[in-house]
Amino acid sequence: MKAFVAGATGETGRRIVQELVDRQIPVRALVRDLTRARAILPAEVELIAGDVLDLRSITQAIGDSTVILCATGAKPSLDPTGPYQVDYQGTKNLVDVAKDRDIQQFVFVSSLCVSNFFHPLNLFWLILWWKQQAEQYLKTSGINYTIVRPGGLKNEDNSDPVIMSGADTLFDGSIARQKVARVCVESLTSLQARNKVLEIISTPTAVAKSWEDLFSGV
Ligand SMILES: NC(=O)c1ccc[n+]([C@@H]2O[C@H](COP(=O)([O-])OP(=O)(O)OC[C@H]3O[C@@H](n4cnc5c(N)ncnc54)[C@H](OP(=O)(O)O)[C@@H]3O)[C@@H](O)[C@H]2O)c1
Repeated sequence: MKAFVAGATGETGRRIVQELVDRQIPVRALVRDLTRARAILPAEVELIAGDVLDLRSITQAIGDSTVILCATGAKPSLDPTGPYQVDYQGTKNLVDVAKDRDIQQFVFVSSLCVSNFFHPLNLFWLILWWKQQAEQYLKTSGINYTIVRPGGLKNEDNSDPVIMSGADTLFDGSIARQKVARVCVESLTSLQARNKVLEIISTPTAVAKSWEDLFSGV
């Protein structure tokens, strides 16, 4: 397995990269700024300069990768096209490139509540709606996928067990980015995680379960 990570310098992406490295899975990381990425990511990671909005750059960047993990996200800004471009068009570009390759699995970090058009987060240029369009494109692409929809993301990890359930069943809650990264990477090796939408949060009162039990419960 060789993993291609888009959004590798992001707060979740860098944790995904570390989880892959910890499991000795080779990583090709798509980054926009090589110098900044070198300071953030482990030395053994192959850095490839590119942008998900530039189809040609990602076609070259994917190289001989066999799985793709996408943790990109538009930064809040005054540009109303940000989420359309990054969260939808950028993901669609990755899916299109994946379709031309022998990509075994595409893991996409989406969000809780993407199906709720009237959610306040859509005030940020329809970000949830564009994420849902990206999910739809991936689901109908024919590529094996795992769509991970986390609740509010936190940088600090904790020992709270993960709650995992299917599409449009969780509407509130938060989770550490480290746990999101673990779910993404564990899903690469579990058939039970294939072609599923996984909504995840964590709480101190949840019952701890194995990854296999969590995946097969959805
Ligand atoms: N914040 C929350 O509470 C929350 C909740 C649920 C879901 N989510 C979603 O979870 C995902 C990860 O969130 P995060 O906060 O960890 O992300 P983040 O730190 O904002 O990182 C976003 C990443 O996307 C990259 N990126 C943006 N535009 C790009 C482009 N055109 N080409 C290539 N890369 C590009 C950024 O690259 P640079 O480093 O070069 O800028 C960065 O690596 C996002 O999709 C987010 O919407 C967030």
